[in-house]
Amino acid sequence: MKIFIDTANIQQIKDAVDTGIIDGVTTNPTLVSREGRPLVELIKEICSLVDGPISVEAVSQNWHEIVKEARHLAKIDKNVVVKVPLVKEGLKAVKVLSKEKVQTNVTLCFSAPQALFAAKAGAAYVSPFVGRLDDIGHVGMDLIRDIRRIYDNYGIRTQIIVASIRNPLHVIEAAMAGADCATIPYDVLMNLMKHPLTDIGVERFLNDWKKVPKARSPGR
Ligand code: E4P
Repeated sequence: MKIFIDTANIQQIKDAVDTGIIDGVTTNPTLVSREGRPLVELIKEICSLVDGPISVEAVSQNWHEIVKEARHLAKIDKNVVVKVPLVKEGLKAVKVLSKEKVQTNVTLCFSAPQALFAAKAGAAYVSPFVGRLDDIGHVGMDLIRDIRRIYDNYGIRTQIIVASIRNPLHVIEAAMAGADCATIPYDVLMNLMKHPLTDIGVERFLNDWKKVPKARSPGR
């Protein structure tokens, strides 16, 4: 499963990228608004840090405008993937953009038929939002399992990005459901790297190491 970081924060991206586990970045207008910087400048910097898909959301409402905006965003960097909302106008735009080889990530997906339509329109990625479904009392991960099955039934190559991840369990379940990618907020990513037994083990080894007689020379 590819691991994307779900943030537009440069420090968080740098810190996560240094671990060697990051395959890409997803942003949205909410995440970008927290950074207080112009979009293009911010995305250029993100693209200089990560050599992988960088999702940037189009905010236009009708398909003509979405297409225009997407062409503009795609020019920022070869790795830019344009996020398009899963509405009728969005699907029309994806159809045009896929013919122009502009990669799209169809976002705000909340049902299996929506995901099927995104794929048929030519989306490179689809982003089902598991956390927001959980928030309203649905099992978000059931949607991932349904989409995986439907895509596999028909050999559909659109990649499933599990989005709106809220906790480590979402990541484990996404991998078990066969999702192609999970986009993970920084705090969840950091939690996933930690285990109390690892910390206890490190501390114990360090304490025992102090008891080992040290050679006078540089040798251990
Ligand atoms: C990523 O592509 C989505 O925009 C993001 O995961 C949404 O997360 P949220 O539901 O926590 O806002």
